[in-house]
Amino acid sequence: MEYLQTQGISLPRLGLGTFRMQGDACRAAVESALALGYRHIDTAEMYGNEDPIGAAIAASGVARGDLHVTTKVWHENLAPDAIRSAFDASLKKLRLDRVDLYLVHWPSKNMNLPAMFETLFKLKEEGRTRAIGVANFNVALLKTVVEEIRAPIACNQVEYHVMLDQTKVRQYLAAKSIPLVAYCPLAQGKVSSDETLAAIGRKHGASAAQVALRWLLERDGVAAIPKASRRESQQANLDALKLTLDDADRKAITALPKDKRCVNPGFAPAWD
Ligand SMILES: NC(=O)c1ccc[n+]([C@@H]2O[C@H](COP(=O)([O-])OP(=O)(O)OC[C@H]3O[C@@H](n4cnc5c(N)ncnc54)[C@H](OP(=O)(O)O)[C@@H]3O)[C@@H](O)[C@H]2O)c1
Repeated sequence: MEYLQTQGISLPRLGLGTFRMQGDACRAAVESALALGYRHIDTAEMYGNEDPIGAAIAASGVARGDLHVTTKVWHENLAPDAIRSAFDASLKKLRLDRVDLYLVHWPSKNMNLPAMFETLFKLKEEGRTRAIGVANFNVALLKTVVEEIRAPIACNQVEYHVMLDQTKVRQYLAAKSIPLVAYCPLAQGKVSSDETLAAIGRKHGASAAQVALRWLLERDGVAAIPKASRRESQQANLDALKLTLDDADRKAITALPKDKRCVNPGFAPAWD
């Protein structure tokens, strides 16, 4: 497994996404992923699955120091006291005494950024999260967080895949040496039906999804968290790390239309 070094943590470049996984099925999927060698699990208070994930981690026998766990605070809980209680509840459900990365899940229109980051920074100083970060922050918000508040964010988690251009946010993050964690890296499964990706895959004995994932993970400073509930998909996504794309493949992928955003909730500030 390859890792990204950021703000004192080693982030495995491939993690398991868990949105829409619930209960026993979630527990089984996380146990399967950990047995296959995944060491990065992505969850959030909003997913309602920290309990089964905590159970899977406890049952796995994986040493805590070898495992990276990210969770997130929902946009309705960004007042300092609300962050604290959301954090405590997450930790309890996960059965952990600390997480590795605690993210602001979405910015909200009326958030108090300095107060938020003061609270998050205290959680980091207390050793209850090893690092803090953001998700779904556009360049304007990132500038405030990084250049004015000077918060030590370890990543920005945003939607990123072969069908979506993220040049602006990528360039900003790269200039500041902050990793981009790609969510919906398979465009919620849509990449599987793309004929260009399937043709590239046939050339290499791989699937369209594996090609899409490999392309993302070739990008400097990018990690990805595909959700895969089936063992076969989990293994296929690990195997994608071994795939080698050539220049013709990259050119064809670069030429794909990049305007397909899967996630755009009404409550969040505009992207640009
Ligand atoms: N920060 C945020 O606001 C935010 C927003 C959205 C998502 N996320 C995170 O990002 C994760 C991933 O995003 P996502 O779940 O929306 O979409 P995704 O990972 O792009 O796609 C998941 C879909 O792809 C399928 N799949 C996985 N591996 C495959 C393979 N090798 N071949 C074919 N199909 C495959 C899955 O099927 P099976 O499950 O049936 O295997 C599932 O239907 C989430 O689970 C969550 O952890 C974060």
